[in-house]
Amino acid sequence: MRFILNKTEVELPESRREDRLLWVLRDHFGVRGPKFGCGIGACGACSIHVAGKAERSCSLTVGDVEGEQVTTLEGLASGETLHPVQAAWIAENVPQCGYCQNGQIMTAAALLEEKPSVTASEIEGAMSQVRCRCGTQNRVLRAINRAGEALKTS
Ligand code: FES
Ligand code: FES
Repeated sequence: MRFILNKTEVELPESRREDRLLWVLRDHFGVRGPKFGCGIGACGACSIHVAGKAERSCSLTVGDVEGEQVTTLEGLASGETLHPVQAAWIAENVPQCGYCQNGQIMTAAALLEEKPSVTASEIEGAMSQVRCRCGTQNRVLRAINRAGEALKTS
């Protein structure tokens, strides 16, 4: 069975259809952006994009993404050009320990791709689903606003 991983078609044997995607991405494909946090879809650390929407890879099987476009943090940039969310994250110096940051960035990028002029309450609603034990939420919000402005003028 096949899917597209960061713009490249990949293939796995049918016997792996029920395997959890997070572990397949990390251990089989060596893609380490998505992190293991809770393993039950509650924290967001494992977030990826499936067909442009933020999803939790710990809660998906390989079979769930058959034929789909899967993007991880590693595939967000276009060559040497960072995604506006990544650039804003650097400008706002967002991460602390960094553990939740894959989930924060992937969730924010999906949100802004869908709606660059997102409201403060929509940002809050989407980002409250990603747990950060370090308290980076204010910097996350500033970075999303910065990235939204950049996307509107690009
Ligand atoms: S590890 Fe997937 S949501 Fe926490
Ligand atoms: S930066 Fe440490 S958990 Fe969010």
